[in-house]
Amino acid sequence: MNDEFQASRPPALAALERDSLAAGFTMASEPRTGALLRSLAASKPGGALLEFGTGTGISTAWIIDGMDSAARLVTVECEESHAVIARRHLGHDPRVSFNVDDGAEFIRSLGGRKRKFDMIFADTWPGKFDHLEEALKLLSQGGFYVIDDLLPQASWPTGHAPRVPALIADLERRSELVLCKLAWSSGIVVAVRR
Ligand SMILES: C[S@@+](CC[C@H](N)C(=O)[O-])C[C@H]1O[C@@H](n2cnc3c(N)ncnc32)[C@H](O)[C@@H]1O
Repeated sequence: MNDEFQASRPPALAALERDSLAAGFTMASEPRTGALLRSLAASKPGGALLEFGTGTGISTAWIIDGMDSAARLVTVECEESHAVIARRHLGHDPRVSFNVDDGAEFIRSLGGRKRKFDMIFADTWPGKFDHLEEALKLLSQGGFYVIDDLLPQASWPTGHAPRVPALIADLERRSELVLCKLAWSSGIVVAVRR
């Protein structure tokens, strides 16, 4: 098995990769992570999905590729210059709501929401290294909470490394979560709310 090879890729992926490269955006999730996100999204027909850190839309494209026609994705990104690339190639999809906002503010704005999210991909600081409690309150029973970049990355700033084991220990202490740690791809945790 060659897990670097994906037999099918999201239709917009090549254009998103090209524009991300041209914009110097180097923080996109790698294809194996994308394939995992796509499969998890496909397990939630009619699901409500949430992404923190749209970036240029590469992980968004994978998630969309797994969603059925009734599923909905809400995604937030603080940098307009990143979000504009995502919207250019994915903005026509009525299942997706693109938001340019600070992730922490956005989590607060979702606090009163009745429907919980069936999958949360937390790919930026808010919802992952901070505002974790608030983000997890948005997760439905049986919902997936997914984080990546948990194995050492060249892009990690100084002081970042100790935050990762602290975050994992925090998640492991939560009896409402069932964790699966994957030392694979960039290093992933999939947690499911009991
Ligand atoms: C790791 S990248 C996301 C990559 C994208 N999910 C993918 O896999 O293709 C993190 C993104 O979070 C954005 N970001 C950083 N701080 C943020 C904040 N406070 N609120 C929202 N987005 C933020 C960055 O601009 C960056 O685009």
